[in-house]
Amino acid sequence: MKPEELKSFLDKKKLHFILAADAEPRIHQKRNEDGSENIFIPAGGVSVALDPIAQVANAVFIGRGRTKEDKEVVSRGNKVEIKGDLGNYYLKRVFVSEKERADYYDGYSNQTLWPLCHIAYERPVFERKWFANYQKVNQYFAKAINEEIKPNSFIWVHDYQLSLVPSMLKKPKGVTIGMFWHIPWPTWEIFRILPQKIEILESLLSCDFLAFHRGYQVRNFLDTVRRELEVRIDEETNRIYYKKRVTTVKNLPMGIDVDVIKGLLEDAPAETVITSIVNTFIGKKDKSSKKNILDEFFKKNNVIVGIDRLDYTKGLTSRLVAIDKFFEKNPQYIGKAVYVGIIAPSREAIPSYQKLKAEIKNLIREINLKYARNNWLPIHLIYHTFSREDVIKFYQKSKICLVTPLDDGMNLVSKEFVIASSKEKEPGMLVLSQFAGSAIDLTDALIVNPYDIDEVADAIKTGLVMSKEEKVRRIRSMAEELENKNIYVWTQEFVKSALEATR
Ligand code: G6P
Repeated sequence: MKPEELKSFLDKKKLHFILAADAEPRIHQKRNEDGSENIFIPAGGVSVALDPIAQVANAVFIGRGRTKEDKEVVSRGNKVEIKGDLGNYYLKRVFVSEKERADYYDGYSNQTLWPLCHIAYERPVFERKWFANYQKVNQYFAKAINEEIKPNSFIWVHDYQLSLVPSMLKKPKGVTIGMFWHIPWPTWEIFRILPQKIEILESLLSCDFLAFHRGYQVRNFLDTVRRELEVRIDEETNRIYYKKRVTTVKNLPMGIDVDVIKGLLEDAPAETVITSIVNTFIGKKDKSSKKNILDEFFKKNNVIVGIDRLDYTKGLTSRLVAIDKFFEKNPQYIGKAVYVGIIAPSREAIPSYQKLKAEIKNLIREINLKYARNNWLPIHLIYHTFSREDVIKFYQKSKICLVTPLDDGMNLVSKEFVIASSKEKEPGMLVLSQFAGSAIDLTDALIVNPYDIDEVADAIKTGLVMSKEEKVRRIRSMAEELENKNIYVWTQEFVKSALEATR
């Protein structure tokens, strides 16, 4: 489906589209030296995915403002217009105090709910005072939405940071409230320990429609409400009846904007920030060389790539151990294969994230010492948030992409890699954790259990020696699947199902 088709579908429905997510799709930063605006796109998958939808729907997108400049550029109603190729939309920013942000974001969202919902064996932290400010910030979002509501509004709330928003919304007749929960929903035995479980469940049950990526998450949610609340569930339709309200629940794995990735591949500049970084690891002194550094690097090495936020759910330490195992088992690749890990800093104020960063650093030092040869190191890590333009060539040219989370709602990197790689004559291969949401769509990847170090190490080898024909077949079939179920199809299905649920 093309964006125009989604547009005409939405136009026919005459919806006033309101999106709300914690992550804003654009962050304003200090102006460039020439006075032009400096706008930054954050690393998280959710905001990147929602941006084209906001454009097509000419939506009001409510997100949390991050910077001083974010505040400076907004006009009345805290809005700033975002101009896009597919249409314009208003970004309406919610601003919170530093204390509120710390409790709501570093605290309740990312130290309570995030570890509770992801099975990565990171113990959630429970602090009453965090919840108070989490409620408060959810109130701010709800207020910002309520100010925008018209009789034909379609309100689409996103993710765990805003779980209380649905219960705080006005709901005049004709308005639809939909919510997408982008992270896993755990089993009841795990969710039941949350002190504020009833507030959150009751809020989610004030939506008309609630969706998750995977079927097992829907089943976990149904089981949770069944055990915690006096609900009636229609097993045939997944409708939940509770206190005179009806909520329909469904699994809808999110797609990507395939055309945008293809466009980026065509337009990607030969020289990017990454090129100069690669320059430093291949120790090239002659910067004036006309030769394309990246091409040279990819030609010389079997490049294995990983692109992640620095997060314990992403399985980064196990991945490094698996790379060590790969070299141990396959010494013929010493000096011939390199792992380039591109890691976007994330949630840096949180102790578990700081601890992980230190662990990774130590592990890399150990592995690099073990295998280093003159001018060659097996692992290069780059801590930086890159734009997709910057990393797209890396996806395209890499022999292997390692996506090995311990638990992940969806994982868009795996999908973007498949599209980028499908544009190469000899594509690469994806090694994918069975615990990434995307494993439901990308069944032709080399699917692994990230806890099984030998299995991951062997999959790297399998991918490297796989015949060109086999790689072409697998990557093409996955790319086709992604074309058929792109972000526009996903949006249309969400809107259709939510409208049906409201009737
Ligand atoms: C995950 C969450 C998103 C979040 C993103 C980035 O994908 O589901 O809601 O925005 O991570 O995390 P951050 O904390 O940087 O917004």
